[in-house]
Amino acid sequence: MAELKPAILGGEPVTKRKIPFTQIVLTDDESQAISDVLKTKIFVCGDYTELLEREFARYVGTKHAIAVSNGTDGLFLSFLALDITFGSRVVTTPLTFVASASTILHTGAVPVFVDVLPDGNLDPRKVSEVDNFNAICLVHLYGLPVDFDDFQRISVERGIPIIEDASHAHGAEYNGRKVGSLGDIAVFSLYPSKIIAAGGWGGIITTNADELNEKLRLLRAHGELRVLAGEKGAYEYIRLGYNLRMSEIEAAVAYFQLRKLDKFVEARRRLASYLTELLSDVPGIKLPKEPPGKKHAFYIYAIQIDPSEIGWTRDAFVDALNAEGISARAGYHTPLHKTKLFQNINDPRINHFARVVRYPDYASLSLPLAESLARTTVWLPMYPTLSLDEVEQIARAVKKLVDWGIKHKT
Ligand SMILES: Cc1ncc(COP(=O)(O)O)c(C=O)c1O
Repeated sequence: MAELKPAILGGEPVTKRKIPFTQIVLTDDESQAISDVLKTKIFVCGDYTELLEREFARYVGTKHAIAVSNGTDGLFLSFLALDITFGSRVVTTPLTFVASASTILHTGAVPVFVDVLPDGNLDPRKVSEVDNFNAICLVHLYGLPVDFDDFQRISVERGIPIIEDASHAHGAEYNGRKVGSLGDIAVFSLYPSKIIAAGGWGGIITTNADELNEKLRLLRAHGELRVLAGEKGAYEYIRLGYNLRMSEIEAAVAYFQLRKLDKFVEARRRLASYLTELLSDVPGIKLPKEPPGKKHAFYIYAIQIDPSEIGWTRDAFVDALNAEGISARAGYHTPLHKTKLFQNINDPRINHFARVVRYPDYASLSLPLAESLARTTVWLPMYPTLSLDEVEQIARAVKKLVDWGIKHKT
């Protein structure tokens, strides 16, 4: 390619119409559904919530699906339902959104961060080296399923449950089974940027266990017996609960999004595979892979750059892509154990649980692979309505910058 000056240094950008990082895809169904709900005047736990729960469970292949206020609350309730509380230790990844670990804190338990594999997912070999823990919270990072069989072996050996944080992985599959049906409980986020959204906040918990389903429904709605016994249980409180239901408008939107989920995932996979093809010969860049037996949902298309090879630091590369008109992001640039929250976790002014819980010294924790991925990852735009032209522009911008960086390396 002829040498082109990067836009960030005064050259012409690859595109003047900025390509957004993500875009929600809505059709007329969703607005129709919202006006349906307005007409019925039932705003909580109506027909759409029931329909969404039934169809989501059917889609994932579990006996139950429970609609909740958002993915964060879904994780919190799932840990509580599994009796994770003060004195519990939960293994999870540091390379994720804060909610995968903050919800462990919210129960009074202690997150135990373990290092990841080169693909960014939790490393089962490292997990099996941990002495003492009560549950594993797996995140299918960016939509790529974890090595579930290895975790299941650990779970059986130690008699501990697995919680899947499937917030990135709607429609992903592991050996032909849908993500969300693998562990004891799974949680999906329906935040607006996610593979499917709820038109506000939203989350879904899936499980095969009747007992967990019942407990989750009680926890979701004030611990009120009405949940199990109908009107005769009104105002009868049988356990401590919360108010973390999904609204009917959110459920209606989520139901129509669910109907399009397979199409969304197929479009993401097609576009991701085209982008991979276009970037396959670019030096100094590692592309996402899909190992046999795994179906990647490509919630995020993440690449790893080698700054010493391409002559750009990660943050400079992200800024330069943005100047080219490509909304790239630095992603999870700080692994959770390195964030101020975990560095100062024993300070009750920033974490009230520190009054009663003593946490490990996260400041001295070293998780080299997670730390290195956090320094070198770049997220590129990915969503079902990205055009082939736009995919080509993304690839062109990456190539242009790498080409320039290699030639002008100091
Ligand atoms: C991995 C992961 N877990 C949990 C969540 C929390 O979901 P929500 O934003 O719906 O609370 C998110 C998303 O935002 C996420 O990316």
